[in-house]
Amino acid sequence: MFSLDVYQTRRDRLKAQLPDGAMAVIAAAEEVIRNRDAEYPFRQSSDFLYLTGFNEPDAVLVLRPNAPERLFVRPRDPDREVWTGRRLGPERVQESLGIAEGSPLDALPTDMQAMLDETTWLEYPFDCKVTSALIEKCLADRKSHGRRQELLSHRVDLSRRLHQARMIKGPEEIQAMQTAGRISAAGHVDAMRMCRPGLTEDQLASVVEHRFRMEGSPSVAYQTIVGGGENACILHYIDRQDPLHDGDLVLIDAGCEIEGYAGDITRTFPVNGRFSGPQAEIYDLVLQAQADALAEMCVGRSIRLYHQTAVRTLTEGLIALGFIQGPLEDALEEKRFHPFYMHGTGHLLGLDVHDVGRYENDGEPVLLEDGMVLTCEPGLYLSQRLSIPEQFQGIGVRIEDDVLITADGPQVLTGDVPKSRDEIEALMRDGACAVS
Ligand code: GLY
Ligand code: MN
Ligand code: MN
Repeated sequence: MFSLDVYQTRRDRLKAQLPDGAMAVIAAAEEVIRNRDAEYPFRQSSDFLYLTGFNEPDAVLVLRPNAPERLFVRPRDPDREVWTGRRLGPERVQESLGIAEGSPLDALPTDMQAMLDETTWLEYPFDCKVTSALIEKCLADRKSHGRRQELLSHRVDLSRRLHQARMIKGPEEIQAMQTAGRISAAGHVDAMRMCRPGLTEDQLASVVEHRFRMEGSPSVAYQTIVGGGENACILHYIDRQDPLHDGDLVLIDAGCEIEGYAGDITRTFPVNGRFSGPQAEIYDLVLQAQADALAEMCVGRSIRLYHQTAVRTLTEGLIALGFIQGPLEDALEEKRFHPFYMHGTGHLLGLDVHDVGRYENDGEPVLLEDGMVLTCEPGLYLSQRLSIPEQFQGIGVRIEDDVLITADGPQVLTGDVPKSRDEIEALMRDGACAVS
């Protein structure tokens, strides 16, 4: 958790944007059952975490301009806590979270109705199922009790303000993301060191995740992808049951979470430590596309430009390889690269791996700003389904780094894991790497 004033500043900024008579409501995540009575690991709602730093389920934050902040939480319950873990309880909300009023969750239905009586403008994140359900319930109760109804038609999506704020990272967020980048890189370095034919994809994933955990990350930021050979051509491949074969490449897309902030790295390397000729050719083309794209990740440039640049480099290469027909401009216009490269070159990164924020405003692309963090992740996926020479089939390559946009140019947060072929081969041969 960051210092309390970080969260206070975020809440103050949000409240300052709300009109008089407004009430903003944001609910915590709920626990999710995996099977019978076993739960998935708890992950807090990113919006709620952003505003409170509080990591328990079943809580509701209420913000109003010119009124004390309120947080409804689970009450203390020594008997339950023996079974399911410690609870903060309303008594400790003020001291631990800096939120003026802590209240027990069972006071919420009555207190909400009283607050709604004084509310003329109701905001909540429409994309949050838990908050939306809570609001629907409160408004339905109002109706059945004959209370004022205008709010039914005065509801505003809080996500716009909140997600705009989350797009630009502050110093403490940047520090967390630098740490996430460093630890994520260390996991990839370990995977390169440990990889050998015969390991399964899942065993290699465990090497990456072991390092994350040992470095203090409580969780992966998303399901770790490890795809050998043709499996690398499945973009979100999480099966990981196949053995890794001598002569294939393996693609690992893995990132850890620090303070809820995601790292997101992809590296592709030979299972046996040596790139074949065709693998090297494709790898270097993707690496060149990434270098060209990274050079465009500068303040003031369109958020779309670095994708267009990567696509241009990849398309030139695909024409040179004879996989698609030129001339270049026609190939770009007709998107002939699409069977080989079907995703964007990056996304905003933060508390969510595909982070919130807008890529366009009124149809115009957003311009990159100091403090944004985005990934840069070109790839080529030469599936066996494609009509290309056999020696290229089953080669999937993606190279992904996390990039902080600064006034001094792009700053790569994930540079501690090698990506040139020479560096990768040296690391896999004799363990040599700048990262320990
Ligand atoms: N790890 C998901 C992505 O790179 O977008
Ligand atoms: Mn990504
Ligand atoms: Mn990724």
